[in-house]
Amino acid sequence: VNDINSIVQEAHQAIQQTEDLASLDHLRVKYLGKKGALTNLLKNLSTLDPSERPQYGQQVNQAKQQLQQSIQQQQSILEEAHLQSQLSQETLDVTLPGRGQSLGNLHPITQIRTQVESFFSQLGFSIADGPEVEDDYHNFEALNIPANHPARDMQDTFYLENGLLLRTHTSPVQIRVMQQQEPPLRILAPGRVYRCDDIDPTHSPMFNQVEGLLVDEDINFAHLKGILEAFVRFFFAEEIQVRFRPSFFPFTEPSAELDVLINGRWMEILGCGMVHPNVLENVNIDSEKYTGFAFGMGFDRLAMARFGIDDLRLFFESDLRFLGQF
Ligand code: DAH
Repeated sequence: VNDINSIVQEAHQAIQQTEDLASLDHLRVKYLGKKGALTNLLKNLSTLDPSERPQYGQQVNQAKQQLQQSIQQQQSILEEAHLQSQLSQETLDVTLPGRGQSLGNLHPITQIRTQVESFFSQLGFSIADGPEVEDDYHNFEALNIPANHPARDMQDTFYLENGLLLRTHTSPVQIRVMQQQEPPLRILAPGRVYRCDDIDPTHSPMFNQVEGLLVDEDINFAHLKGILEAFVRFFFAEEIQVRFRPSFFPFTEPSAELDVLINGRWMEILGCGMVHPNVLENVNIDSEKYTGFAFGMGFDRLAMARFGIDDLRLFFESDLRFLGQF
C-alpha cells in the first residue's frame, strides 16, 4: 500500500510539471502502460494472501483511475495553453488596409489590332503570320520591287547579314501565304515592321502594320472600295468622310491611298490596290483567272487617332502610368 501511495504521489507531481503533450504521453506509458509502474504492482497479487488480494487489487485500480484523471486534467490544461499561444501569435489585424489586386488591361495597340481583326474575320478573313527577319526576295523582289528600283528608297531598310533584313512592311506575308495556299484567299496579317527612318513624334523605327489580301475570281476595284469603306465606318464612325487618292505601289495596279477626315484634317490611314499581275505570276497564280486586292495599314496611327495621342513613342515606352489609361 505504501508503494502504491508513493507511486501515485510521484506520478502526480511529474504530471503537473509537464509542459507539453509529448512528455505527458511519456508519463502515461511510464505509469499506466503495459509495463508501467502500476501495472507492475498487480503482478505482486499472486504473492499476497488470497484474503488480501481483492482489497489490494481495488487500491491499484483506484490509483490507476486517479492518475488517469490527473493526466486528462493536465492534458486539457496543456491544450488550452497551446491554443492561447497560437491565437496570440496569429492575431489578425482587420484594420490593416487591404493589399488589393490591380487589374491589368490590354495595350492600346492590342485593343486596336483586336478590333481590326474582328471586323475582317466577320468577312471570312483569317489571320496569317510571317517572320520579322525576312529575306530580300519576300520583302522586295517577289513584290515586284527589283534591286535598284527607286521604290526601295521609300523603305529605309535595316539590313542584317546573309542577305537578311528586318521586314519593312507586312506585305511579304502576302507572298508567303500565296506560295502555300491556292485561291480563293482572304487573309489578314498584323505584325511589327521596321524602318531606320527618322524618329519623331509620328515615326518610330518599329511600328505596327496590318496587311490584308483577298484573291478570287472576278474581284475588282469596287470590292476593294466597298470593304475598306465599310471598315473605316466600323472603326471610326458611320458618318466619317472617306476619300481614295491615286497612288503608286509596285505590287498593286492601280494603287490608292485612303484618307479619313478627322478634326478637319485628312489623315492617311492605308495604302491599297489591285494585286499586280507580276506578283500573282511570281507565286504561280494564274493572273488571267484570278484577281485580288491588297491593303496595308499602320495601326499605330489608328490608335493615335482613336485615343487622341499625338506622340507615337508613348505606346512603346511601357510606362504603366500611360498604358493604364486605356
Ligand atoms: N506595304 C506598303 C507600305 O508599307 C503598304 C501597302 C500599300 C500594302 C498597298 C499593300 C498595298 O498591300 O496594296 O508602305
